Amino acid sequence: MIKHEIEFTLNGKKRRLAIAANELLLNVIRDDMALTGTKYGCGIGECAACTVLIEGKAMLACMLLAVSVNGKSITTVEGLSQGNELSPIQQAFIDKGAVQCGFCTPGMVLASHALLTENPAPSENEIRDYLRGNHCRCTGYKAIVQAVQSCVKVPKR
Ligand code: FES
Ligand code: FES
Repeated sequence: MIKHEIEFTLNGKKRRLAIAANELLLNVIRDDMALTGTKYGCGIGECAACTVLIEGKAMLACMLLAVSVNGKSITTVEGLSQGNELSPIQQAFIDKGAVQCGFCTPGMVLASHALLTENPAPSENEIRDYLRGNHCRCTGYKAIVQAVQSCVKVPKR
């Protein structure tokens, strides 16, 4: 099969790879890049366990061809921390008990990060609305919403 050379930035590092035109981004991240924080849930765009940030926007890696990220910047959950220091939203998920089995957590954390970047002070409804595509089978969402709320930056008057 013909391979296509692509170049992208993954968690701040330039990567170059030859891949088949029909290869999914999720497989490239998990198998070729060995970054298994990005989860394979449904594989059909229903659960958002595979959420990554592309140019800062939350996207589903199971629904994207890897060739489509040529020249783009991708962040996975492994790229949010600085060395051993977790990002504020990662720490908030721990502090608020928003992680149970943890399967949805990388996607939830990345979607929450994208929300807080777009809107540093979302209301509870805005948080619930933004995360409605990210499915959790464990926590009932209350702790997840509280984790995001704990990172809300109150605008200065
Ligand atoms: Fe991508 Fe479920 S694995 S949406
Ligand atoms: Fe288990 Fe969300 S913590 S699916």
